[in-house]
Amino acid sequence: MPDQEAGDNAPVDPDLMDKVVGLCKRRGFVFQSAEIYGGFRSTYDYGPLGVNLLRNVKNAWWEAMVQRRDDVVGLDAAILSPPAVWEASGHLSNFTDPLVDCRQCHQRWRQDKIDGVCPNCGSTEFTEARAFNLMFKTHAGPLEDEGAVAYLRPETAQGMFINFANVLQTTRKKPPFGIAQVGKSFRNEITPQNFVFRTREFEQMEMEYFVPPEQADHWFEYWLGERFAWYLSLGIPESHLRLRHHQADELSHYSVATADVEFLFPWGWDELEGIANRTDFDLKAHSAASGERLEYYDQPSGERYVPYVIEPAAGATRTMMAFMLAAYGEDEVGGETRTVLRLHPRLAPYQVAVLPLSKKETLEPVARQVLTSLQPHFMCDYDVTQSIGKRYRRQDEVGTPWCVTVDFDTLDDGAVTVRDRDSTEQVRVPINGLVDELRRRMDRA
Ligand code: GAP
Repeated sequence: MPDQEAGDNAPVDPDLMDKVVGLCKRRGFVFQSAEIYGGFRSTYDYGPLGVNLLRNVKNAWWEAMVQRRDDVVGLDAAILSPPAVWEASGHLSNFTDPLVDCRQCHQRWRQDKIDGVCPNCGSTEFTEARAFNLMFKTHAGPLEDEGAVAYLRPETAQGMFINFANVLQTTRKKPPFGIAQVGKSFRNEITPQNFVFRTREFEQMEMEYFVPPEQADHWFEYWLGERFAWYLSLGIPESHLRLRHHQADELSHYSVATADVEFLFPWGWDELEGIANRTDFDLKAHSAASGERLEYYDQPSGERYVPYVIEPAAGATRTMMAFMLAAYGEDEVGGETRTVLRLHPRLAPYQVAVLPLSKKETLEPVARQVLTSLQPHFMCDYDVTQSIGKRYRRQDEVGTPWCVTVDFDTLDDGAVTVRDRDSTEQVRVPINGLVDELRRRMDRA
């Protein structure tokens, strides 16, 4: 695994961010939310392509973290929660950012992100820092009084801690075992920025891995390795990925050790995921506050203990953007420049596009039959408009790994042309072997 220094000199296209943001809008990956009303800052809607890509990122995570393991189970906990949860977890008192106002231009900033200089006007004069709690507060029910206060969760993790006893009882798991969850979290970020990198509403993919305390260091190292390998396996180049261990003064209130998986974004290295040793902080805190025993009782040995927790916590929306940035390329095909999104086939919004060569009545029914035969196996697009060259370019730009062209020869030989996005190589494949051929290609990717 590359450490902090590795990859520092990898080149970054200065226009990459603008190009990817432009592509997101133009092709329907991500839209500004409430755009027809002038947009709502820091909120985004995922369009027809973005929703597929984001779903594929979450599915790939779920497959690696839950489906392919017998020591991790899933959970989908509520987003709305009572103050007691956040009181016990420490978020009500500690989940704050230091907020300062520039005395010259009155812009508001996070003190720890500006190096003492106002990014807007260059002034170095600021108000005293004050702690700003990032949680969104609301009221459940018709009365807006203190008794009705509720919070939108700022992390999915607490759902796993407060359900620890439920899961233990119903699954009969024993440490080491994990509870995984994918879902929305909300933070009233002072400076949301960089498109979907830091937003107020976002999706997380988190897993709490409960271990005997003396094994915590081992499992911390284990999960650093697993999580780093996951990004590589889905196509992020090693030059754009590194691990950074937190200094003591950076650690969250619950952590004794944290390392971030960082990606080389256009603005520099930044976090994709944090892997933390949360010790027994959360289970003990909820146990003390609720009066419930949150511990593991090992019947054979008669031993009772509160497990430590190793937590790999990733952002789904942020990671989706990193996959797009890493996949974006421009090259020349047949003397023409093309934009190509070299997404891993498992992540691509569409795995296959079915393209009848012309709109002629004879081709469309066959093309539709091919489409119907592929749809149970792959997410497919179907496109009949414009020249075949233009349609290939359109599919390259959104990352479709394979185009299947139905032409007039198909009517005679029952075969189609399969074009590969990356090599642009085209081969003839019989329709009755098409699903197997594409499956083989998926498995090889
Ligand atoms: N349970 C631990 C936890 O929430 P975190 O480092 O605050 O840790 C985990 O968040 C991941 O969630 C981050 O690495 C990031 O990918 C994502 N994330 C956090 N805040 C975000 C935001 N405002 N917008 C988008 N993603 C965010």
